[in-house]
Amino acid sequence: MALLLVLLFSLLASPTFVLSASSPPFTPQDNFLIDCGATNKATLPDGRAFKIESESTQQLKADDDNKVFVDKADVPSPLYLTARIFKSDATYTFHMARPGWHWIRLHFYPLSNSVFDLQKATFNVMTQKYTLLHSFNVNENKNNTKNQIFMKEYLLNITEQQFSIKFSPMKNSVAFINAIEVVSAPDNLIADTANNLQPASQFQGLSKFGYETMYRLNMGGPFVTSANDTLGRSWLPDDAYIKSKNMAKATSVGTSTIKYPDGLTPQIAPPTIYATAVQMADAIVSNQNFNITWNFQAENAFAYLIRLHFCDIVSKSLGNLYFNVYINGNMAISDLDLSHIVNGLAIPYYKDIVVNASLVSDGLSVQIGPSRMDNGAPNAILNGLEVMKLSNSVDSLDGEFGVDGKKVETGGGGPHKGAVAAVGFGLMFGAFVGLGAMVYKWRKRPQDWQKRNSFSSWLLPVHAGDTSFMSSKTSSNMYNSTLGLGRYFTFQELQEATNNFDSSKIIGVGGFGNVYLCVIDDGTSVAVKRGNPQSEQGITEFQTEIQMLSKLRHRHLVSLIGYCDENSEMILVYEYMSNGPFRDHLYGKDLPPLSWKQRLEICIGAARGLHYLHTGTTQGIIHRDVKTTNILLDDQLTAKVADFGLSKDATMGQNYVSTAVKGSFGYLDPEYFRRQQLTDKSDVYSFGVVLLEALCARPAINPALPREQVNLADWGMQWKRKGLLEKIIDPLLVGSIDPESMKKFGEAAEKCLEEHGVDRPTMGDVLWNLEYALQLQEAFTQGKLEDESSSVVLPSTEVDAAATSPAAVAVPPPSTPTPTIRPATIPEGDEGSTNAHPINDHSGTDMLAQFSNLNGR
Ligand SMILES: *[C@@H]1O[C@H](CO)[C@@H](O)[C@H](O)[C@H]1NC(C)=O
Ligand SMILES: *[C@@H]1O[C@H](CO)[C@@H](O)[C@H](O)[C@H]1NC(C)=O
Ligand SMILES: *[C@@H]1O[C@H](CO)[C@@H](O)[C@H](O)[C@H]1NC(C)=O
Ligand SMILES: *[C@@H]1O[C@H](CO)[C@@H](O)[C@H](O)[C@H]1NC(C)=O
Ligand SMILES: *[C@@H]1O[C@H](CO)[C@@H](O)[C@H](O)[C@H]1NC(C)=O
Repeated sequence: MALLLVLLFSLLASPTFVLSASSPPFTPQDNFLIDCGATNKATLPDGRAFKIESESTQQLKADDDNKVFVDKADVPSPLYLTARIFKSDATYTFHMARPGWHWIRLHFYPLSNSVFDLQKATFNVMTQKYTLLHSFNVNENKNNTKNQIFMKEYLLNITEQQFSIKFSPMKNSVAFINAIEVVSAPDNLIADTANNLQPASQFQGLSKFGYETMYRLNMGGPFVTSANDTLGRSWLPDDAYIKSKNMAKATSVGTSTIKYPDGLTPQIAPPTIYATAVQMADAIVSNQNFNITWNFQAENAFAYLIRLHFCDIVSKSLGNLYFNVYINGNMAISDLDLSHIVNGLAIPYYKDIVVNASLVSDGLSVQIGPSRMDNGAPNAILNGLEVMKLSNSVDSLDGEFGVDGKKVETGGGGPHKGAVAAVGFGLMFGAFVGLGAMVYKWRKRPQDWQKRNSFSSWLLPVHAGDTSFMSSKTSSNMYNSTLGLGRYFTFQELQEATNNFDSSKIIGVGGFGNVYLCVIDDGTSVAVKRGNPQSEQGITEFQTEIQMLSKLRHRHLVSLIGYCDENSEMILVYEYMSNGPFRDHLYGKDLPPLSWKQRLEICIGAARGLHYLHTGTTQGIIHRDVKTTNILLDDQLTAKVADFGLSKDATMGQNYVSTAVKGSFGYLDPEYFRRQQLTDKSDVYSFGVVLLEALCARPAINPALPREQVNLADWGMQWKRKGLLEKIIDPLLVGSIDPESMKKFGEAAEKCLEEHGVDRPTMGDVLWNLEYALQLQEAFTQGKLEDESSSVVLPSTEVDAAATSPAAVAVPPPSTPTPTIRPATIPEGDEGSTNAHPINDHSGTDMLAQFSNLNGR
């Protein structure tokens, strides 16, 4: 009878049975969600309602506590509007309904208040059994982290009926907390046994440890938020951790394809995790054999549980995929044959590996690579990865002290203390950033744009990766060598090159800090952009900018040469653009005027750069701040687009990115402003303004002019509609522009400035029209020359590299006469140019105010 039942059950749960659709959701018996210090319940975007303390059955004992709140809504989530501050020990006690595994999630956000500067608060957090945080301070290794949100997640087997969490401030300090979650997790989430990495053996007793989540990644897939997870977990994309991105490729199937086997439920990981994977990229070699590697920071005084999630969504038939998994260079799984283990394709499988503290001396690395070269196409996959820290011998998850004050015994063997201190903070922040990304995202709100004094205050948060790589000198070298991000400069090198950041070398100033011109060892002039420690810029954005810039190489984009992140410095080194911003050559600087042809060539170059940004990368990148000060000119007057500081990947399978409004006033796409949906057509709009600026030689916004002339886009379009655009062009151009060329150009600008994004052309189309306008102009000039005198010796024909650049997609219409004459483009007297800086600040602080003023007209 019993056997029958078992059979029946296994039939029901057989691999062909799609469990994800029918398995009951897990209902946590204990579900404490507390919004500390709040007076109103807070409901999160994922639907969970956080109660105020008095509504919840938990008890708070504190001698001296203060409720604080901020009412301005510049915090990322309602949870961070309030906090409790404790000047002495305070304990939350929970009456538990059921013993067993529980998530403990602690939310910290140092909101400003009149009680205490929470950036300076240092405190311990403990349960009856575990030390969760020791001497914790939100700001410990980051000097410029206002608005920093921290979420720490633990998984503890709670056996006490009265479970308590105690906050203990250090001397002369306070403790604080914004929100607490104590939520039941399924018993089977952690099995008691796993594989021990080295020596290869079975590890027993996993249920005796407490865990802290360090990393949880969705390989080859998107950010999965708590709303999409079966247990309120969040899963980050793996991009920030993978070593050589071009050796791996992402792959995915529909989630309905995933068939959970008997004994594995979506509670282990939801189908979205198994439905995406990273696999080996196709190398153009007959016998491809390499590893895909992910690197993580880890503290060497702790052991880790690594959970690897697999699901063969790449094979066409069984028995084709055999691969190895290595952790820290040791074989973790040899010859993994998924289809044999689970007997099918698209069936989830996971494996737990315990890594002893003695093996964690230099972080953690996870590698996958093919095992048998003679069997099918060599490949290896990984769908998801979790890294959990195990509590140590004194039941601490942070530092060497247990709740009873007992200290870890440091017998002969262990590499301890010093190393712990060295990597401890880096690790801590790695985890914060990882888990905090969900809430970090909420922080990006429209009002945030008033604080954009940074390199790049505005990059896609799902990329927010492990800043920990950047947090110490030793790790930065590792970062550099593993991710190939251009050259690593030491601080000393740059200090010497800039004569200790001598103000005479400053060529640009912005809210983020200064830009210096200097010469590096090989005699190359470079522009050095040094982050101001006071800027809002986080190290995460800095790192993201490096990653984004190093992905992008194009003749018409300013290139990043290298960076320095030593001693919490954030310095980027760019190629030097000696002729400075395009704008300076149009007005305001008394530089020799550019001819119409030169202006056209510059616009074409910039259009190529933008076209490449939009289409040349897999995801597509939206610049978001196209303007004449962000188009820089080198010594040959070649235009290069600069400052992708505000750039955003157009990812996530939709053709727009919903976001708060950013950009520069006067160039802002009205549709983007209204709907806060960013598309590449927003850049096209801004580029339309650039075209008018090139033609009319006046700023996009000039408040000194009569009202109807203030905004160049409006003003220009009024005249264009009347067919009288030539009335407002740069007086210096009058007579030298071919009317047909100007007509074509004006039409291109007009189309760019269409009210609705869908009506605007792509950058490719714009480029095509500009090329055409250039050809008309050249034919015109040539004709004029021939008319005047047939004996004039023309400058020798010159191959324009721009025209043969890979991004040159615009093919001029065959009917157009193709002039072969390309006069040199260097104006006289340009060696006198001074003010050349590669990166401009976004001086749009009161942009919103201006915009509303003008819109109110
Ligand atoms: C943080 O910045 C202050 C000055 O702004 C400086 O005195 C301090 O040493 C810095 N701390 C760290 C850890 O860099
Ligand atoms: C939690 O710990 C208790 C006591 O050690 C043990 O009996 C129980 O099996 C554990 N629960 C789980 C789910 O491992
Ligand atoms: C997350 O859930 C929302 C709504 O439930 C759904 O629209 C979205 O596609 C899901 N995202 C993923 C990555 O599964
Ligand atoms: C993959 O990594 C393992 C462990 O680091 C190493 O032993 C092996 O040689 C690597 N394989 C290849 C093809 O590089
Ligand atoms: C790590 O290994 C040491 C001896 O090699 C052992 O005493 C210790 O218990 C191990 N730690 C864990 C967490 O297994």
